[in-house]
Amino acid sequence: MTTTPLPPSLIATLPGRYYTDPELFRREQERVFEALWFCAVRSADLDKPGAFRTVQVGRESVLVTRSRTGAPRAFLNVCRHRGARLCTEESGQVRRALQCPYHAWTYDLDGKLIAAPDLMKMPDVDRSAYGLVEVALREWLGYTWVCLADEPPSFEETVIGAAAERLGDAASIERYGTERLALGKRVTYDVRANWKLIVENFMECYHCATIHPELTDVLPEFAGGFAAQYYVGHGAAFGEEVGGFTVDGSAGFGRLPEVGDHQDRRYYAVTVKPTVFLNLVPDHVILHRMFPLAEDRTVVECDWLYAPDVVASGADLSKSVELFHRVNAQDFAACERTQPAMASRAYREGGVLVPTEHHIGIFHEWLRRQLDS
Ligand code: FES
Ligand code: FE
Repeated sequence: MTTTPLPPSLIATLPGRYYTDPELFRREQERVFEALWFCAVRSADLDKPGAFRTVQVGRESVLVTRSRTGAPRAFLNVCRHRGARLCTEESGQVRRALQCPYHAWTYDLDGKLIAAPDLMKMPDVDRSAYGLVEVALREWLGYTWVCLADEPPSFEETVIGAAAERLGDAASIERYGTERLALGKRVTYDVRANWKLIVENFMECYHCATIHPELTDVLPEFAGGFAAQYYVGHGAAFGEEVGGFTVDGSAGFGRLPEVGDHQDRRYYAVTVKPTVFLNLVPDHVILHRMFPLAEDRTVVECDWLYAPDVVASGADLSKSVELFHRVNAQDFAACERTQPAMASRAYREGGVLVPTEHHIGIFHEWLRRQLDS
């Protein structure tokens, strides 16, 4: 183990305990996942009134549902009577109301308490005081984002603005029309690694030449180790012989209608902190949402989104999906290989970031600021 000062070309990573310490993870739950906007649900998954989904946001279970008016609503998934978890399923559909399985308190889809055995006979009880606890909600890119903070930070600045800054301008993301796309494929990965290892991996491409043969065939500049995220506004160009963003470089689908000429045959990657990765290519969008469940476990839900007519036509998406599915499998295997070593004394003081990874240091500074806030 060394405490030798690092040369200027190297900067230190976080120490190993940041990836293994349950107390630190608890602090992240409080100061990061429960404090910032968190991408919870693809809005189209709640396809009709009464459809619901429960998601883990920090230490809380959050229930996102669609009300009778068609608007999504989010609540803490806790019955106001004696605190039972209201919905225990990950997703489902109720007809009109949500009923607690313990003593049958019943809430409408707007969270209002509408029935409770015996309680209704007590004229002194103000039922309106016992509705579900509502959670702040916004929709963007076709996803429902929630925030548990008492005073949520500005969505425009911390989500839309932060993503736009990475791409150079907001219009660049809007051109993909992500909220109008249809789900072509979803894969859920249960990754035995700390969420930050997954973020750091997504941010750098130093590993691309070693573990991503298919991706570097399509994006030859990735073999040089410079990630698309290294430069603001940079999109990695497809190789000259490459037809599309597919596992074998064969042609993909038609360009999404508003994608600009400057975005054609290019791949853009954006990290929307804390838990979203957005991958933009001319004919589809890939959106990853992370659900950090423990210091050493993160569930990642990855959606492949295409023009609605492509999905409706029943076109074969497999070559398109397979490229990033392999990238995901390769990346998550690397993260899982790294996780146990975070507890090693060899990593007590952390490792190092080479120049093509220096932007990860900015993520670490951001995290430290959040944890100290
Ligand atoms: Fe829900 Fe009693 S805890 S009805
Ligand atoms: Fe990778």
